[in-house]
Amino acid sequence: MPKSSKETRKTVAKQPSGIMITINGCRHNFEPERDITPTMTLSYLLREKLGYTGLKVSCDEGACGACTVIMDGKAVLSCMILAIEAHGHEILTIEGLPKNDPVVEAFAEQCEPGYGTALQCGICTPGFVMGTRALLNENPIPTMAEIKESLSGHICRCGCYAAIAQAVVHASEKIAKKGEPS
Ligand code: FES
Ligand code: FES
Repeated sequence: MPKSSKETRKTVAKQPSGIMITINGCRHNFEPERDITPTMTLSYLLREKLGYTGLKVSCDEGACGACTVIMDGKAVLSCMILAIEAHGHEILTIEGLPKNDPVVEAFAEQCEPGYGTALQCGICTPGFVMGTRALLNENPIPTMAEIKESLSGHICRCGCYAAIAQAVVHASEKIAKKGEPS
């Protein structure tokens, strides 16, 4: 019995055989097994395969926030996501932010007496910046309680917490004053 045209189309329709991830606005296609193994984490793919070394892998078990990137607008821990799970999603790493991003500027400028600098060794900084970026995208004027709650999963071993919170406040003020960079 001849197949209906619908059945025929179904038979010849191309099944997706690759993994497609948009990273910092660029579409990347990967071949399963050859480029991405089933157990490869997103952090490994980004850092070791693609050279996005801004994110840091510190604990590699979801406990420090250093590997934070933004996936479809939300902050995620890239060490806790498999690379294949990012198929069809949009990833933003710190390299994808504009140089005059208000969060980047606020972290770099922070040095108020009484609070100090928002970064010392800098290992935690990209994670805090991306966590802050996701927070301010959703809530441009967060309260101090909301800032603390939102960034509570991030660890800074240098203990810059008070200054980091101030940097987030200043980033929020910059956005209110000048808007987001175009
Ligand atoms: S390296 Fe991913 S949470 Fe610590
Ligand atoms: S600045 Fe060193 S861990 Fe945060």
